[in-house]
Amino acid sequence: MKQNSQVVGRSCDCAEGQCQAGEHYLDQLKDTVAFSMPNKRCGAFFAESIQGVGGTVQFPKNFLKPAFELVRSHGGVCISDEVQTGFGRLGSHFWGFETHDLVPDIVTMAKGIGNGFPLAAVVTTPEIAKHMGTALHFNTYGGNPMASAVGSAVLDAIEEDGTQENSHVVGTYFINKLRELQNEFDIIGDVRGKGLMIGVELVSDREKRTPLSIDIVGKIWEDMKDMGLLVGKGGFYGTTLRIKPPMCITKEDTDFSIDVMRKAFQNSCS
Ligand SMILES: Cc1ncc(COP(=O)(O)O)c(C=O)c1O
Repeated sequence: MKQNSQVVGRSCDCAEGQCQAGEHYLDQLKDTVAFSMPNKRCGAFFAESIQGVGGTVQFPKNFLKPAFELVRSHGGVCISDEVQTGFGRLGSHFWGFETHDLVPDIVTMAKGIGNGFPLAAVVTTPEIAKHMGTALHFNTYGGNPMASAVGSAVLDAIEEDGTQENSHVVGTYFINKLRELQNEFDIIGDVRGKGLMIGVELVSDREKRTPLSIDIVGKIWEDMKDMGLLVGKGGFYGTTLRIKPPMCITKEDTDFSIDVMRKAFQNSCS
């Protein structure tokens, strides 16, 4: 594993205000509408604001908003899955969809709202909600008063403890520390994310973005766990470390995490 002294940035040839990747993504969606949808009618389009288990993949600029417009123009409703991105984790905004400057028709949420307690919710427009009354729909735990009390307390804590601001400050610190770590290890192909939703993609060849062997990723992951650091794994090849810590973590916790990661990467090449 060779050392690299250059600061690693993410280069881009697009002109100011333009995003070729966003245009390509949109063309693919247009192709799907044109060639794969019967009668070109669409039911619904689901999107996370940043893909979570998908490997902390951020959409290109100017993709999601026109994608929503395209779906709506073909009769579909647009659903934002905020299970991972919601409740201030992205730091700059309370909801991930706000970072794309759009308003969904339906928002699904869970995890963060319960802070570990099993709780989920769906929020939608009165127009869509009224249709729920025309279908048979029930949940064993729906409207559970204990879960509702937990959710309400968690919302208060998010506000009182300033966890959104903490996600912004500590998350940015974390990402910058990881970018520094990327300069030490060529095995780190990419560092991406926002706030405390961070992905570290592991590769065997940074230029070609060849995924690191899943066995080596597994060893690094176990090694980190043994040293006291729990992270997730995801992405198409399962080679992206997914870092999504509690939103109350400190810069000291981050320094500990970086030290553990450095040691695990060093161990993997010894
Ligand atoms: C982004 C996202 N959406 C939905 C789900 C599923 O949520 P639930 O278990 O509440 O159905 C998950 C679970 O991990 C998730 O990460």
